Formats: sequence, C-alpha cells, structure tokens
Amino acid sequence: MPKVLFINGPNLNMLGIREKEFYGDRTLEDINAGLRSMAENEGVEVEFFQSNHEGELVDRIQQAYQNTDCIVINPGAFTHYSIAIYDALKTVKIPVIEVHLSNIYAREIFRSKSLISPLAAGGIFGFGPMGYQMALHAACQLLAQG
Ligand code: DQA
Repeated sequence: MPKVLFINGPNLNMLGIREKEFYGDRTLEDINAGLRSMAENEGVEVEFFQSNHEGELVDRIQQAYQNTDCIVINPGAFTHYSIAIYDALKTVKIPVIEVHLSNIYAREIFRSKSLISPLAAGGIFGFGPMGYQMALHAACQLLAQG
C-alpha cells in the first residue's frame, strides 16, 4: 500500500485554540482522524507527525527516505525561513505537497515567501482543514500516475 506522511510544523498542535479566524476551530487530531478514514477508502496508508522543533522535523523527513511515497507538509512558520527543512526534503527525493490552512499571500508580507514551494509538486493554501484532504486526494492522483 502506498504511504503518505503528513508533517505539521510548529504551533499546529494548537489548532482549535490558535487564531481561529485564520485556522478554524478543528483540532489537529480531528483533522487527522478525517484523513485516516479518507485514506482507508482510498487504499493508502497514512502517518502523522507534528513537532514544534526544526531538528525533529528534519529527523522525521530523513526517516522517510525510501519508505514513504509522498509527503504532505505544513511547515508552519518554518515555511518562510527553514533552509534545513528545504534541504531535508530535497535530500529524500520524495514528492512533496505543501499545505497552508490560511492564504499566506493575503497576510503579513513575511508569509508570502515560501522556501518549500520551489521543490513541491504543488501546493494548497487558504482552504482551512479541507486543504489536507485536497492534498491527500492530489497525493493519490500522483501515486496512481506512478
Ligand atoms: C501556516 C501559515 C504560516 O505562516 C504560519 O506560521 C503557520 C501556519 C498555515 O497553515 O496557514 O504556522 O502554515
């Protein structure tokens, strides 16, 4: 079964509490539960990882080397400045789908730069939690294409 790894960066463990006007009121556990049942229907395996620490995110990306078919990542604030996460994603050579709950281009100017986008197969932003489901759908399409 193809495996899709969902990685969430800093402060995304606070979904449901954090700035609801941008991020909505669903918790990360709730979002992941929805993805898990969607994955069962799609016939793909899903794994979830969240960390507030850049090094842990790098470690988890490295662990995915040669055993994961697609990475869906919302790197949180690291999107905008983590060369380490960019390098790790580039190293493992796994197709990447970038997700942001909010429209990062309609907010503070510092959010409009993503270091991750240039290496992503594609990105989804501004659709709230639905963005993760859209990403899983896109991942399934990518994997079906081989
Ligand atoms: C975010 C956007 C980032 O700018 C921010 O730092 C986040 C969440 C999003 O999902 O909209 O933590 O990645």
